[in-house]
Amino acid sequence: EKIAAVLDAFFGRQLSLKGKKVLVTAGPTYERIDPVRFIGNFSTGKMGYAIAAEAARRGADVTLVSGPTDLPDPAGSVNTVRVEIARQMLAACESVFAQTDIAVMSAAVADYAPKHFVDRKIKREHDSVDSIELVKNPDIAATLGACKRAGQLLVGFALETGATADAEANAREKLDRKNLDMIVLNTLADKGAGFGTDTNKVTVIGRDFAEAFQLKSKAEVASDILDCITDRL
Ligand code: CTP
Repeated sequence: EKIAAVLDAFFGRQLSLKGKKVLVTAGPTYERIDPVRFIGNFSTGKMGYAIAAEAARRGADVTLVSGPTDLPDPAGSVNTVRVEIARQMLAACESVFAQTDIAVMSAAVADYAPKHFVDRKIKREHDSVDSIELVKNPDIAATLGACKRAGQLLVGFALETGATADAEANAREKLDRKNLDMIVLNTLADKGAGFGTDTNKVTVIGRDFAEAFQLKSKAEVASDILDCITDRL
């Protein structure tokens, strides 16, 4: 598979990202409550892995920072860094961001983490547990957005659950708040879009454009997103 990916990239139709360094985040984060439990979400990482693989196919040098997933490391010129919690994901991104040309934040980062980690399994002897105190996690996309240099392109995702008009407004608000150059909107209101599926339906939104795509395989969606990016390099 590795040989095929390298040959494919070498002889590929377009090496539009040759010489570019691309950072991709993917998957969920697992914020530990105790040694056997965590707060997480249903993200499988498929979209981010597809973007990393396609960027490598186009000749980029890719760093994929991945939360826990069942997916194998993508073949080709992809350095896969496995992390578990949001703070580790942030540290891994910060260590390469200065040398990055394009960063695509597709991870579904847990917004909150338990304030205290209980180092032994919480027993079920209590009739109820009053609360698990949560603290806000760092916003990785916003942190990178705040130190972005001219010439670096930062792309975010927005997973929304509401009606289309609200979803677009929320996505544009995130574009501004996190100082992104582009945001990929997908909404759970669309069948076949979102977590776990092999397909996705996205609208790519920039400051001066919005392009809506049909329902497609995540590999094809990755290709559309990278086309939008290369058009604006
Ligand atoms: N993101 C991130 N770090 C976080 C939260 C989100 O890097 N702690 C990134 C995601 O990878 C995505 C973008 O920010 O590219 C938007 O994520 P989303 O969860 O839709 O937005 P939130 O800022 O978490 O807003 P909300 O949960 O209120 O919709």
